[in-house]
Amino acid sequence: MANSARARELLLSARNLVILTGAGVSAASGVPTFRGPGGLWRHFRSEELATPRAFAGDPSLVWEWYHWRRETVRTKLPNGAHLAIARLQSKPPANLLSAVLVTQNVDGIHPLAGSPCIEMHGSLFRTKCTNSRCPGSSKATEDRRSPIVEALRGRGAPDVEERGPQIPEEELPRCGECGSLTRPAVVWFGENLDPAVMASVQDALQACDLLFVVGTSGLVYPAAGFAEEVQARGGNVVEFNVERTRQDADPSRRGRGAYLFVEGPCEVTVPAVVNAALAR
Ligand code: OAD
Ligand code: ZN
Repeated sequence: MANSARARELLLSARNLVILTGAGVSAASGVPTFRGPGGLWRHFRSEELATPRAFAGDPSLVWEWYHWRRETVRTKLPNGAHLAIARLQSKPPANLLSAVLVTQNVDGIHPLAGSPCIEMHGSLFRTKCTNSRCPGSSKATEDRRSPIVEALRGRGAPDVEERGPQIPEEELPRCGECGSLTRPAVVWFGENLDPAVMASVQDALQACDLLFVVGTSGLVYPAAGFAEEVQARGGNVVEFNVERTRQDADPSRRGRGAYLFVEGPCEVTVPAVVNAALAR
């Protein structure tokens, strides 16, 4: 049986499903992945800019990058993978008691497709205050303005030669409560994930007997460990990716759940599996 048919059978016998997605799920919507082509902004990798240190050293540069990402993403639409996941959540097959979506993406496209979802890494469209004494530092505020501040209008071009003047801190996004500089409400490298968010992810993982891993390179923890965690408990894992990311998966290991790899673009493979399951 082809792996996608086996994936459908697993979906039709599961009780609690968790779907973990990464940048690959939005690739067909035109959002560049982090580690694929188009993953560099100017000459920077995301690991160089998405850090507290980078922001403290050059808030103007980091805000330019986020401004560019916000403006890029706001015009993008859900693709077949987002829509199939949303359909699975809103009209699950009778065997499924729950279908929890956990995304590492900050692009907001799953919510746009109508999916309830746990945004593990936050969102490009929320900000928080950098002043730790301000209540706005512990709660994120939605901000969909375009541009988020006038000083960023026309800035953030990704070309390597691009190097505009630094934007003074007073002209970057500021907190509505205390006037301090705000930052994107996303989780940066070197920062902890929100404990409440992680607790709900852990609850879902503990309960699940099937995990779909869609379009993620599986390099960034804690998400990178989810598949192993589920399999170690005897749960099944299906990975949808254009290339294989896990070499260790040995379906013959006794006492562990199955691991299936469905190769191909997820905007094609995920709807194929979901539609076949929902058609039954
Ligand atoms: P990556 O860019 O590391 O990986 C994207 C994955 O999607 C790769 O494994 C690709 O093979 C796969 N892919 C690309 N196009 C696809 C398609 N059409 N169908 C299926 N798969 C496809 O992105 P993430 O794994 O999401 O963190 O990266 C994880 C985290 O690292 C991000 O959340 C971000 C980043 O730095 C933070 O910002 C904290
Ligand atoms: Zn504040």
